[in-house]
Amino acid sequence: MLILGIESSCDETAAAVVADGCDVRSNIIASQHDLHAKYGGVVPEIASRAHIERIGPVIDEALGAAGVTLEQIDAVAVGNRPGLIGSLLVGVAAAKTLAWSLGKPLIGLDHVHAHLYAAALDASPPVYPAVGLVVSGGHTSLYRLDGPLEITLLGRTIDDAVGEAYDKVAAILELGYPGGPTVDRLAQTAEPGDLKFPRTLLDADSLDFSYSGLKTAVLYHVRGKPTGRGRGAQFERDASAMSEAQKATVCAAFQQAAIDVLIVKTERALDRLSGEGRPPGALVIGGGVSANSLLRLRATELGQQRALDVRLPAMNYCLDNAAMIAGLAYHRYIDRRFDELDLPAVATTRI
Ligand code: KG4
Ligand code: ZN
Repeated sequence: MLILGIESSCDETAAAVVADGCDVRSNIIASQHDLHAKYGGVVPEIASRAHIERIGPVIDEALGAAGVTLEQIDAVAVGNRPGLIGSLLVGVAAAKTLAWSLGKPLIGLDHVHAHLYAAALDASPPVYPAVGLVVSGGHTSLYRLDGPLEITLLGRTIDDAVGEAYDKVAAILELGYPGGPTVDRLAQTAEPGDLKFPRTLLDADSLDFSYSGLKTAVLYHVRGKPTGRGRGAQFERDASAMSEAQKATVCAAFQQAAIDVLIVKTERALDRLSGEGRPPGALVIGGGVSANSLLRLRATELGQQRALDVRLPAMNYCLDNAAMIAGLAYHRYIDRRFDELDLPAVATTRI
């Protein structure tokens, strides 16, 4: 059973061929980071144009790397929600065109659900029920997982996503875009010392997240207190006078606060499921921030403390990719749950 997956929700144009839901035959990702770097973030118009140019060659490359022809593909899957609407439309149009012209089933999937499947690629499936944690540029959410497609939201960020906080802290420290990997790399070279940023935990039993306070604390620490508000705010200084070592200390203190919150909330979710008499068999993590060195370490330690099976994606499946789409689509295929050719691209979804 060979599924071609297509992913274009943000600034990666990706295609992959996956056999039987877990055997990744190819995983091609054309990143657009170079196109957006000078703007300090993704420019939607530039992203959709780049997707249009790249989607055909990327699909060809995925088929070639897998050594299969289009005729050998059993179904075409695409992440059709959530994301930038102009970006999503490119992948959805490509998937529909292929499905229609080949006479093969079309399967549209939620990008966030697919992130929760990334850890099952080139691996065995986790034991359900499980707790799922998605940490990306757009999402910071906890889920109860009862199967690859049975996903219930337990909590989510009420403001910034954790990856967004990484990117904003990188911008404050003038470290370039995307900031997560750079902040992570610098954080590993320093100790926070006495510098401590706040951990926002909300109510005692809350599984929601909030990262805007942490980001603002870093902003004020680096640039001083502002006069004025909003975009017109004037600060006492900026990061240009800081040494690499000083920036690294801020990165280390930020990273500890950001990851502490993820671990505390994840423990709450694990306890909640156990309290309901449904002890989780695994903790499944996905999304770009699952590449983070401290999160991977702390999650692995948590697994050891609780004798819990912790599933982190392989590094090449953390960031946006199409293998997670093609892998998850297999479970829709065996349920015979296909989409019609009027499948929409949807910018936002409830979870
Ligand atoms: O899942 P993803 O590729 O795209 C979305 O669906 O949003 O996640 C991208 C996010 C970015 O915010 C990026 O800065 C962050 O993941 N990221 C990291 C690391 N690598 C990527 N954040 C922290 N540490 C990393 N090593
Ligand atoms: Zn993503």
